[in-house]
Amino acid sequence: MSLTPVTIVHISDLHFGGYADLAQIEALDRFLPTLGAGATVVSGDLSQRARHGEFQAAHAFLQRLRGHMPVLVIPGNHDIEWWKSPFGAFGAAVKYAKYARYFGDLTPVLEVPGAIIAGALSSYGVAFGSLTWNLRDVAVKGHLPASETTRVGKVFAHAPPDAVRILAVHHNVLRGALSHRQGLADWRSVWRRLRATGADVVLCGHDHHEGAGQIEGTLAVSTSGTHSFRTRGGRPSVFNLVTIDERAVRIQHFRWESAGRRFLQSDATAFARPPGPRVTVSVAGGEGEP
Ligand SMILES: [Fe+2]
Ligand SMILES: [Fe+2]
Repeated sequence: MSLTPVTIVHISDLHFGGYADLAQIEALDRFLPTLGAGATVVSGDLSQRARHGEFQAAHAFLQRLRGHMPVLVIPGNHDIEWWKSPFGAFGAAVKYAKYARYFGDLTPVLEVPGAIIAGALSSYGVAFGSLTWNLRDVAVKGHLPASETTRVGKVFAHAPPDAVRILAVHHNVLRGALSHRQGLADWRSVWRRLRATGADVVLCGHDHHEGAGQIEGTLAVSTSGTHSFRTRGGRPSVFNLVTIDERAVRIQHFRWESAGRRFLQSDATAFARPPGPRVTVSVAGGEGEP
């Protein structure tokens, strides 16, 4: 593990379109470059309805940010045109074509000094793997196939041993504290497989409510909020600054103060990292495809 701490801005759920809070977007433009981070991760839901204008506004925002640091972005459930291919009836590509036109790779990998960041795809729209018995979940719930966790595990296995492994996924992998909802179907299997990737921290969003927690007391999870008006319970928006060093994963929340039109440092949580050399976990085989 590198002695130099790695710091990542983690934002999510910008939802460009009618619900985006432009005062927050402008504040992010000013504030994020001052935080000394090595990269920004945007964990999905750039748009509200995957419209061209929404993607173009998101693209302009990301380009401004890229003037200051590398940015990794992944699609959320709002960014895919699932209605063009429900249950994959017309193939997968058509659902993602518009997103890909603006943002490229659906499963990007970004290497920055001291870290490797891998995006995993959990947004499939109306798909068999995402179905539950709850009608509210249709086109909202995600799933994380074994093929995705296996792929990311291989990316991490080939990374330099001292690089911090960061896994980005859209849907919340821990139950929301207010929503009481899991973002992913078959989450117990997801937890097992996320741990097996060798990730040091998981970055996710979707719940529109910030969080800092751990999977089974070992794998740190940063959940970032939304910069739209659709916050959970009407609470202020929050984004996270994640710092990883050899001892701990630290998740610092920054809370939006609308009166002052600025983000203020708020709560922080630190999770100790397991001591000793990295343990390589085989991810071959694994679960069947959901
Ligand atoms: Fe969202
Ligand atoms: Fe979402």
